[in-house]
Order: sequence, then structure tokens, then C-alpha cells
Amino acid sequence: MDIAYLLKPKSQRRKEQLKPTQPLPFGQLRTDHMFLIDYEDGEWQNARIVPYEPFTISPGAIALHYGQALFEGAKAFMHPDNEIYTFRIDKNAKRLNKSAEILCMPSIDEKLQIQAIHALIDVDRLWFPIQNGASLYIRPFMFATEDSLGVHPSKSYRYAIILSPSGPYYPEGFTKPIRLLITKKFHRAVSGGTGESKAAGNYAASLRAGEFAKQFGASQVLYLDAQNKYIEEAGAMNHYHIEKDGTVVIPEFTDTVLRSITSESIIELQNSLGLKVIQKRVALDEFIGKIKSKEIIEAGGFGTAAVVSPVGEYVFEDNSILTVGDGSIGAYSRKIYEYYTGLQTGKIAAPNGWLKKVEKRI
Ligand code: PLP
Ligand code: COI
Repeated sequence: MDIAYLLKPKSQRRKEQLKPTQPLPFGQLRTDHMFLIDYEDGEWQNARIVPYEPFTISPGAIALHYGQALFEGAKAFMHPDNEIYTFRIDKNAKRLNKSAEILCMPSIDEKLQIQAIHALIDVDRLWFPIQNGASLYIRPFMFATEDSLGVHPSKSYRYAIILSPSGPYYPEGFTKPIRLLITKKFHRAVSGGTGESKAAGNYAASLRAGEFAKQFGASQVLYLDAQNKYIEEAGAMNHYHIEKDGTVVIPEFTDTVLRSITSESIIELQNSLGLKVIQKRVALDEFIGKIKSKEIIEAGGFGTAAVVSPVGEYVFEDNSILTVGDGSIGAYSRKIYEYYTGLQTGKIAAPNGWLKKVEKRI
């Protein structure tokens, strides 16, 4: 599809590469432009790149009342050849359509999504952060725009992409393990619901649990299934643990767990990593018992924003603490982190098709 370039005057655009001293708290900074396309009369139309600025939305828009909205999260990296590469965004494009199906929203051609992401990064390439560990976070999202107070799927939508030059998601980065709260008080998803999608509402529903977790010094809740029997995932990342023989275990993808592209990638990379990576239902009691008996020696979270975030300890509502191993970052988690980020940043060869170069067109 043709994309219209309705850009800021050159004098108002970034003129040089972002300074290495620029603070980059995750998700705070924006680039000069965004991509927009609208769904009207049964088709996507008017693909355009425009200045990043507020847009108008009807006060009666269905997204504002009934939360018909979803998003994706992906990243682009600068490689030693000074070119920018997006990482596995075909998987994000596909998952966006899966979320759209779950939320009764229209799908959007995957090639168009990829084309739009690349075109936008190309326009705003001077916003690429060059600090170690930083990347360009890509946030595609879609929301219902029809002005109607009846509860039904909207007839019109907007799909947009914004970019955020970002540092690590957790301020401690990979240097300090995080703490997760294990609680039976809150649940993220139930079977038959929207857990497998990146519905905006899933995240709204996780905020109360997130605030509760903070009272225990934890970054997020480790959610259990609705019966409080199995481990599911954290608020913004999948969960993993590592047994003493080096086997990495990721809870099975059910319809209450987001199919993490990071987890799927680690599974695909198991031979190169020299680690066995399996998925299975992980019963909470067994998990706790194996941490205590030191059969489980490492744990953490996988995610685009979180990358590999080792967990040093779990806290419970009675404030008791369960330390994983000796509470520090373990050798297996470090190996996975280094391999995965090495591959994203072009220091290690990635499987075919995982990285796509952002061509210079503008
Ligand atoms: N689970 C949830 C709830 C998330 O928000 C995320 C982040 O996207 C993940 C898991 C990790 O998924 P991915 O690796 O695709 O980023
Ligand atoms: C991501 O990892 O991209 C996410 O979507 C998590 C988050 C920042 C909500």
C-alpha cells in the first residue's frame, strides 16, 4: 500500500543522532512522527506518516467506553554496520491479528504492518539511541473509533504506530534481580477470556495487582491460574525457571497466557544455547518445593521490554521470602541474556528472517 508522508518541516525535525547522554527511561521519549491508518466502510485506508501530536477521538468512541483496544510491543536495534534492524516483527504483526480476532476487531495485512513500521523508523532514524543496552521500542496499537454507546464491535478503527527510544524496562536493568509477589488475591485471566491477547483491558485489569505488589517491594505479580494451582505469567512478561541440570521451563501456553515472542525465540534457540527448553504446566507447590530443595536454581521473566529479567526472590502476602539459589543472577540466565541480546544487536548470527534491515528511502 502507498504511504503518504505528511512530515514536519525539516527545521522542526531531529537533526542529529540522539546524544549518548540522553536519559532513556523506558517508554517516555517519543520521536517526531507516527503512522496512522483508518478502518472505514470495511477497509483500511489513508495510510500516512504524520507529526507525533494528539489526535481527536469522539467522546462516544467505543474504545473509551468498552475498551476495544489492543497493542503490540517490538524492538529495533542498531548493528555494528550502523544499520537499524527490526527483530521478529512478523511475529508481532501476526499476534496483533490474533488479538484483533479475540477482540472482534479487523485484521490488518501483516506485510502492511511491517512496511509501516519500517517506513516510520526510516523517517525518525536519528532518534535511534546509541547507548549500550538501549533500543528503539516500537508500539503498534489499534482502537475502536465508532461513536456509539451500544455494546457491540465498532464499525471503525484506527491503527497507529509510535516509537520510543528506550533503556531497560526495569530501572535496575540486568544488573539486579527483581522480586515478584506470589498472591492468590488477583488473577490476570480466566480460560475463555482475553488472556492470550494483548488487549489494553488486560493491562488496565493488572494495575491494581501491580500497585499491591509494590507494597511488598515487588516489581510485578506472578499470576496463578484461576484455581491457584499453576503458575501462569507476570504482568508484563512470561515466566521461566531453570532446574539444576540446566533445563529451562516455561509454563505452557494456554488461552490465559500471552504467547511471548521472547519465550518462543528461546525455545527455538535451545540448540544454539546448548540448553534444553521445555514447556509444561508448572504447579505452584512443586515450584516452591523445588526452590527450597535447590532443584530449581534460577528463575525470571522473558519479554520484549523485560528481555531476560532474573528473579532473585519471591515474596508472599505474609511477607515471607523465597530466595532463588543465592538470590543473585545465575549463570544460565546470564548466558541466555547475553546470547539473546548478542543476536538482537548483530554480534551473533541470528536465524534467517529474524532481523530485517530498515532501508533508507527518505
Ligand atoms: N506476557 C505479557 C502479559 C506481556 O505483556 C508480555 C510483553 O509483551 C509478555 C508476556 C512477553 O511477550 P513478548 O516476549 O512477546 O514481548
Ligand atoms: C512488551 O514487552 O513489549 C510489553 O508489551 C510489555 C509492556 C511494556 C506492557
